[in-house]
Amino acid sequence: MEYQGPDELDEAAAAINLMHENARALVTELQHKTELAQLERSRATEAQARLAAIVEYSSDAIIGRALDGTVTSWNAAAERILGYTAAEVIGRDPVEIFPLELRQKIAEHRKLLNAGQLVPEYETVRIHKDGRRVDVAASVSAIKDNSGSIIGIAAILRDITERRRAEDALRRYAARLRELSRRLSEVEESERRAISRELHDRIGQELTTLSLMVGALDTRLSRESRNAVQKLLKDMQALVRYVVAHIRDVMAELRPPVLDDYGLLAALRHLVTEFANRTGIAVNLSGADVCPRLPLVVETAMVRISQEALNNIAKHAHAKKVEISLDSASERVVLDIADDGVGFDTGNIADGGEHWGMITMRERAEAVGITFRLESAPGAGTRIVLEAERVAS
Ligand SMILES: Nc1ncnc2c1ncn2[C@@H]1O[C@H](COP(=O)(O)OP(=O)(O)O)[C@@H](O)[C@H]1O
Ligand SMILES: [Mg+2]
Repeated sequence: MEYQGPDELDEAAAAINLMHENARALVTELQHKTELAQLERSRATEAQARLAAIVEYSSDAIIGRALDGTVTSWNAAAERILGYTAAEVIGRDPVEIFPLELRQKIAEHRKLLNAGQLVPEYETVRIHKDGRRVDVAASVSAIKDNSGSIIGIAAILRDITERRRAEDALRRYAARLRELSRRLSEVEESERRAISRELHDRIGQELTTLSLMVGALDTRLSRESRNAVQKLLKDMQALVRYVVAHIRDVMAELRPPVLDDYGLLAALRHLVTEFANRTGIAVNLSGADVCPRLPLVVETAMVRISQEALNNIAKHAHAKKVEISLDSASERVVLDIADDGVGFDTGNIADGGEHWGMITMRERAEAVGITFRLESAPGAGTRIVLEAERVAS
């Protein structure tokens, strides 16, 4: 190369320097970018590891499948709930975990999912490797890649066998309780009848005899003796009459005497009259007699529930008026008891506490097949509706 003077040399040197600096800047930037990429990669790996741990330790079975149904992942819970190890199922489509009757539905689900549709969570059954049926709650969703195309299906299965078992036990327990409560009111009624009969047949007879004896005593005394005990004898006779009347009341309370002989409407009228006399609250009773009659247990329950409803009105309602109607259509009998009192929040009685009246009323009704409905709200009065279906005979 020919020497071209100091200026050109300087320029060349400057150009080289600039190139060098640019190159260094480029290298620094590249290094920086590489570091960032590495950081991102390690973050992604970390996130993946965390996700894998969550999947692995989940108590729900988490199963990944490719679009054709072959299993791509199978966690520990899946091994436990379904009995197959990951090695046994990965890479194939284990149709044996689906009950025969469900396979058609499963195929439809897959079609929906492959088409990008959602399948809502549902309760279903899977077959364990040992042949046992397992109750599960299943939720399935599509797995998508970065571009949003569906590349597989993820299924989460929760074992609900225990919950099912507990629910069944609870249902059986509730049924037993209802049966018990039905038996209880049957026993109560027959006990009441027995006591009432005893009072009538024995105590009643004996009191009559006693009354006659006191009368006879009066006539057999000498004048002097009679003078001495006359007041006492009168008091005794009055007391015997009082006891007889008292026992008649107790008998009426124990066993509504009119129900057996005169029917539901008459028994209600009897209750209502007694209630109006006792409380001074006006009651309007309307309706026709129930004909043909309902089974005695059903009518008895209706009377007992009305009795309790009236007691509640006397105790809590501050009502001015009570409307009772007995509607006896051919297919069902409806008894409606409504007061115009203070009402109450029905949400508060569910937890029971010391208040057994409402619960007993409902149980008593349901035990003999009566539908019990309670409507009440603060300031809006209270209504109880009893509905008994007639069974076609
Ligand atoms: N007819 C009514 N009017 C207003 N409140 C009522 C009426 N019937 C029931 N209640 C309310 O419901 C509660 C529960 O009634 P109940 O179970 O019969 O228990 P108890 O009569 O022993 O208090 C009562 O304490 C009362 O607050
Ligand atoms: Mg009560």
